[in-house]
Amino acid sequence: MKRPIRTGAPAKFAAYNFFVLIALGLGATYILDRYIRNAVLLNLSLAVGAVLIVLYLVQFTIVKSASAELTRENRDLRKSTDEVVASYEKLKAHYVGTLIFLDRTIDARDEVSDAHSDRLKSIAHKMAGRLALSPDAHRRIAYGSQLHDIGKIGVPERILQKPGDLDPAEATEMRRHSRLGAEIIRSVPFLADIADVIEHHHERFDGAGYPDNLAGDDIPIESRILSVVDAFDTMTHDRPYRPALSPEIAVDKLVEGRGSQFDPGVVDLFLLYLAEEQGINLPPEESGGALAA
Ligand SMILES: [Fe+2]
Repeated sequence: MKRPIRTGAPAKFAAYNFFVLIALGLGATYILDRYIRNAVLLNLSLAVGAVLIVLYLVQFTIVKSASAELTRENRDLRKSTDEVVASYEKLKAHYVGTLIFLDRTIDARDEVSDAHSDRLKSIAHKMAGRLALSPDAHRRIAYGSQLHDIGKIGVPERILQKPGDLDPAEATEMRRHSRLGAEIIRSVPFLADIADVIEHHHERFDGAGYPDNLAGDDIPIESRILSVVDAFDTMTHDRPYRPALSPEIAVDKLVEGRGSQFDPGVVDLFLLYLAEEQGINLPPEESGGALAA
């Protein structure tokens, strides 16, 4: 983008020229007075001095008007830059809005309520706060929560809504959604860094997840958080294949998967969050076991 021009430069140039002209005038007068004591030449030197002053005034006027023109151009340039930035932000908001709309349409096919993504976003954001993650990570978690299942657009409805267990071919089809979702998001320049979060939200801490069998810290922290929060929220709400589980049973499942399916540190923090912010009482062996470990 074009940078504003420094309007102080012409003024400095004019001042410099002024001093050079004065020095030349004084030098000429001194030489004429010292060596050529002649009235005609003295008058000539005065005429030269007068011409120099006129030249300076002309130059000063030109530079002053150029400087004013530059100031005007800078102001216009800044205004255009602000307008371009505002339009870009607007475009981004529309783009994200469209993606979220698309994701909610997919949630509806999957019989998941709109509130699922919103709950995920809010809880994952709090988890990121408890882990003191960077503002960039907060942003990735926010978009990742909202768009993590966008790849389900490529999964047939009969699989998404199947009431029973999926057969191996259907399970493979369903598993494509994390990679497909990442590919969709990677094609959006300002969301490209969210793609990894989406791609790996079904990895397992022990490396037995999909699509890349990543393990431990190789899984992005945003995906590890999403995995725990998504599992809990899904377990505690009705699904086509089973009714909602109680929070206590869902907590048991998280503790069961602590260190195998889920990052143990993230599970501990999440249990703490459930106890402190949702008033879910943890059984003593969980509050004194997993949390203390
Ligand atoms: Fe998913």
